[in-house]
Amino acid sequence: MASLRGANALTMTMRRICVLISGRGSNLEALLAAMAAGTLGGAVVAVVSNRADARGLAIAAAHGVPTRVLDHRAFAARDAFDAALADAVDACAPDLVVLAGFMRVLGAAFVRRFDGRLINIHPSLLPAYPGLHTHRRALADGARIHGCTVHFVTPDVDVGPIVAQAAVPVLPGDDESVLAARVLAAEHALLPAVVRWYCAGRLAVADRQVRVAGERADGDAVLAVPRPDQ
Ligand code: GAR
Repeated sequence: MASLRGANALTMTMRRICVLISGRGSNLEALLAAMAAGTLGGAVVAVVSNRADARGLAIAAAHGVPTRVLDHRAFAARDAFDAALADAVDACAPDLVVLAGFMRVLGAAFVRRFDGRLINIHPSLLPAYPGLHTHRRALADGARIHGCTVHFVTPDVDVGPIVAQAAVPVLPGDDESVLAARVLAAEHALLPAVVRWYCAGRLAVADRQVRVAGERADGDAVLAVPRPDQ
């Protein structure tokens, strides 16, 4: 058999990534930009949304990535939606499943099925502010530092092992949208970095602690300000 060459060989060895979204898709866009730049170390092979009107679907299509919509409202029970979603995700044989603004809580059966290869980006420095309205809550508390977290997903919401975090300042005069935009810019640096480490086989979890193999002494997984060289 002829050996695989060029792009084909590359695609065959690339980690396969399935991204789940519910809306805007800017984190998906950051992953696709890294993929196009050749710095992701993996290939986004499918995007699944629980909403047909998610803007991220058009972003995926513009990058030639196949999309699928599974509307949770078409399912009578949460478990039935989760099972159909798990089948849709499994159909693309992913090495990694990324929740990038996927706004449905996934049940234990789904999470167990993708255990160790399911990550989420959350717009706060967990364990502070799990759940919704994180920027509003940080402002209400007078927090001086805020940010985002990428973590492995476990059945309990927003408490899985933390892989990496990016911090941003909360500045005088910030309102919710200004702060959200600052955090989002940090998300766009953090998520592709974590996916790159995962694809390179650099992440290991033991006793809820994530090790990043080869991490520098000053901490690759701590982004005080987004560092484009990471
Ligand atoms: C992001 O800020 C992400 O952290 C957040 O939703 C936004 C999605 O934006 N996720 C959650 O709140 C999950 N609990 P995007 O669609 O533009 O990537």
